Amino acid sequence: MATATLLDYLKQLENQGVTHVEIDDHARSVLRELYTRGSARRTAKTTPKSPQQPSQPDAIIARGHTAAEKIASLAAIAETWQPARALGSLRDTMVFSTGNPEADFMLVGEAPGFQEEQKGEPFVGPAGEKLNQILKAMGLARDKVYISNVCKFRPATRNQTTNNRKPSPEEMATSLPFVKAEIDVVKPRVIVALGGSAAQGLLGLEKPVGQLRECWHQFQGIPLRVTYHPSYLLRQEDGLGEKRKVWEDMLAIMEKLGLPVSEKQRGFFKK
Ligand code: URA
Repeated sequence: MATATLLDYLKQLENQGVTHVEIDDHARSVLRELYTRGSARRTAKTTPKSPQQPSQPDAIIARGHTAAEKIASLAAIAETWQPARALGSLRDTMVFSTGNPEADFMLVGEAPGFQEEQKGEPFVGPAGEKLNQILKAMGLARDKVYISNVCKFRPATRNQTTNNRKPSPEEMATSLPFVKAEIDVVKPRVIVALGGSAAQGLLGLEKPVGQLRECWHQFQGIPLRVTYHPSYLLRQEDGLGEKRKVWEDMLAIMEKLGLPVSEKQRGFFKK
């Protein structure tokens, strides 16, 4: 049997759910040859990267006994994270997370801004105030949830003062192993991606928030909702419609978390 035909035949069997086949000596030698060639190619692909781009592990192991110790151990590794430094486009100060490392609800924003970098805590500027208001309306407080960012460093700009910019996909990718490790430690029951950057960084989907919200996604097997970033709401102060949309996303999250929803809460922002 020719190699392509043999592979097609095996794929077809696999699609039909067959997990084991008996093969003769000839087929065995063809497959062995293919495997050897494939592994040579795989080895060639993983040859060392240039010193400018240190290779990055997919998984970072948290150390410690309690969830708080484990999060602190991750933050300590992030402090001097070479893959982020090597990009040369992120500032050096690392801002990790805040809140309860055993929370049911995890919120993921985009990246620290000026105020966050000053204080070393995510969401402490105007967007943070808006986020606190949203949490309060849900009957939650900052210290009851876990708040993090998809990028742990403030993206740099030329002659930067208080101005901020969105992180690029490459910049977010250097922090992604930390976000994954945080999720493994916190084990939230629900995650919300705040804004398009967080959604893109986590889900790899480059779509407007309007197309990603109103449904459940999954990240590491955990239900994830996408909603607008609080700073988007700040730019739409009169936009009752946008506030209502965020609130609808939060109501869906409250229901998923089994939190009580009062009639008053259900009616917020309804005309
Ligand atoms: N915006 C974010 O996405 N994260 C912060 O920490 C602050 C503002």
